[in-house]
Amino acid sequence: MQKIRRLLATDLDGTLVGDEDGLKELLNYYEAEKEPVALAYVTGRHRASAEELMQEEGLPRPDLLVTDVGTAIFAGPALQEDEGWSERMSADWRPEAVERAAADIEGLCRQELPDNRRVSFHSDGAGPADELRARLKQGGIAHTFIFSSGRDVDILPAGGGKGEALRYVMEHYVAGDADVLIAGDSGNDLDMLTIGHPSVIVSNAQPELAGVITGDGMFRASRPCAGGILEAWRHFHG
Ligand code: GLC
Ligand code: MG
Repeated sequence: MQKIRRLLATDLDGTLVGDEDGLKELLNYYEAEKEPVALAYVTGRHRASAEELMQEEGLPRPDLLVTDVGTAIFAGPALQEDEGWSERMSADWRPEAVERAAADIEGLCRQELPDNRRVSFHSDGAGPADELRARLKQGGIAHTFIFSSGRDVDILPAGGGKGEALRYVMEHYVAGDADVLIAGDSGNDLDMLTIGHPSVIVSNAQPELAGVITGDGMFRASRPCAGGILEAWRHFHG
């Protein structure tokens, strides 16, 4: 695969998807660009669920698909799994230990997922999530802890997450001097929004991103979802 020279790396739910008119506007803008802009979808969903959303919303096929909160990377025309990344994700990963630690925490409900790349829950507010975090730490269980939308708890292998996955993508698939924009709206996007590339927080973002400091490389859009992405793309690369 030739290295990408222009890249939009974006979350799906609440970021690329959520405002139909804005999405049309963004896609039309990219279509009219002389130099193509590659797409990386970076989502909390598992692959089949991401594909379902892509179909429902008529999204263009991406050049890269990062699923399961950054624990799986798919690339190329057939969106084949990147084995280097999956090896890294499974090296020190003990999902059973996470399950055991969570078993009797009230207000924590396991999400049904097709595999054990991550162990995810719905938490009844922050309390049960905090309890799990404390137990994992106490038990010395290697992990990355992600809390989003006041409800979703993702326990990932250590070194996982959208930010680390995107760093890997940059290293392997993207030219060093590429024009890049990273877009998100919730807690699981935080680590990718702060890896040091131009980033945008869309106006409809969850309260957990309210404290992120807007500066040189961090743009706070005045528009929601894809319209906010377009606003930021123009700001950085227009
Ligand atoms: C998506 C996923 C869910 C995950 C959440 C936060 O909603 O479907 O499994 O917990 O994102 O990352
Ligand atoms: Mg989102």
